[in-house]
Amino acid sequence: MDSELRSRLLEAGQTHLIDHAKLLSGNALARFEAQLRSIDFEQLHRLYSGHESHVNWAELAARAQSPPAVLLDDPRYTRAQARQRGVDALEIGEVAMILVAGGQGTRLGFDQPKGMFPIGPVSGRTLFEIIVHRLLATGKRYGKAIPLAVMTSTATHDATVAYFETHNFLGMPKEDLFFFQQGQMPAVDAETGKVLLSGVGEIALSPDGHGGMLAALAGSGLLERLCVDGVRHLYYGQIDNPLLGVCDPEFLGYHFLSESEMTTQVVRKTDPAERVGVLAEIDGKMSVIEYSDLPPDAAALRDETGELKFWAGSIAVHAMDVEFLCRAAADATSLPFHRAIKKVPFINEEGKVVTPPQPNAMKFERFIFDLLPAAKNAIVVEGRREDCFAPVKNADGAPSDTPSSSRAAISAQHRRWLEAAGAKVAPDAIVEIHPSFALDAEEVKAKVAPGSTFQGKVYLREGSST
Ligand code: UTP
Repeated sequence: MDSELRSRLLEAGQTHLIDHAKLLSGNALARFEAQLRSIDFEQLHRLYSGHESHVNWAELAARAQSPPAVLLDDPRYTRAQARQRGVDALEIGEVAMILVAGGQGTRLGFDQPKGMFPIGPVSGRTLFEIIVHRLLATGKRYGKAIPLAVMTSTATHDATVAYFETHNFLGMPKEDLFFFQQGQMPAVDAETGKVLLSGVGEIALSPDGHGGMLAALAGSGLLERLCVDGVRHLYYGQIDNPLLGVCDPEFLGYHFLSESEMTTQVVRKTDPAERVGVLAEIDGKMSVIEYSDLPPDAAALRDETGELKFWAGSIAVHAMDVEFLCRAAADATSLPFHRAIKKVPFINEEGKVVTPPQPNAMKFERFIFDLLPAAKNAIVVEGRREDCFAPVKNADGAPSDTPSSSRAAISAQHRRWLEAAGAKVAPDAIVEIHPSFALDAEEVKAKVAPGSTFQGKVYLREGSST
């Protein structure tokens, strides 16, 4: 090990890494040293000791206000007006979709990237298929293909790209499909701040959070490339929500009508204890307060009409202007790191793998919603939960956000579309509508005759007769 690296490690109090390097030679040593050189130990120390993240949330929540919002059936804009504004932008190719799919999906316990998880209630289509098929149908409807940028991480990249390659890119034209990889951060021992090793010669690294998107998009050159191609707005969604609106023109329309640089879709919280982040205006700036930071008495506050003050639950769907992102990307401080205490397996001094029974490590992640305070005219747009949010977070058996609950939500939405068209659907039927048949309730109405009956497993797709 060269003296410069050695003295950096000594100064950072990470001497165990010098000792570990002594066990290595040749390529393994070179690789390990390269990993060490890529780490900013000063930053790691600041993050671990909490100097970058001391926020008094109780105080902030006390002076926070409900956020500026477009509510369901808002009297200021007609839905048709908003939709038309969104359609105009889609027709001239000003919108691209960003799908973040770099998470490790630890709670689900699936051994592949989460996007490959089968979720179609009848078809078994994967999360990637569900979202890409909707994107393709939306591009077709408005006569302009929509580019898709998929964010992966070291944990998901190779398997994700191989999956797309072996599945004919799910029908996406290759020139409209991009993959870019987010960065990584080391995990440290929660008690000592020492960098953990995941194996011999291997630092325990994990993806740097969905907020890693900004640096990765800009650093990969993709942000500039999209801009050169005429893209002015990005529609951001996460891979684990199969009800995600995919370049929904109405949501985009509200973004444009409000001249907002970043707009977030929210659902109404009814239970103050629900574990979702909430949108609030703090000192005139749109912000997200994470559920773990919102004191229970603040979460339970109600306004004079009896509605929760912090009603706007985040579902991680955003419209973002490219110009705003370019500005934010140029500012290294625009996204702070958050700390989380998690279980991270590591090797101990004897070189044995330890799988900790309790959370042992501190991990550092950036969150994309931290861009909101810097955005001009940021607003939230209320969506109906049953139409926009059914995340797959936990394995079946957990109380919520499981594959079963998500499949049931898809089936229930598609059942509602058929019933709105006047069809009769047996109570125990399971329904799935492929976007090549219909993208929404209106399209179903145009294709399904009133009085049609459906039972058992119903899968409507292009060419289905009804
Ligand atoms: P979550 O924070 O729910 O994480 O990510 P996860 O990886 O899906 O699951 P757990 O927490 O390990 O069980 C929400 C979304 O953000 C993406 C995920 O892929 C998911 O779409 N994400 C998360 C990233 O792209 N990168 C990250 O570093 C973290």
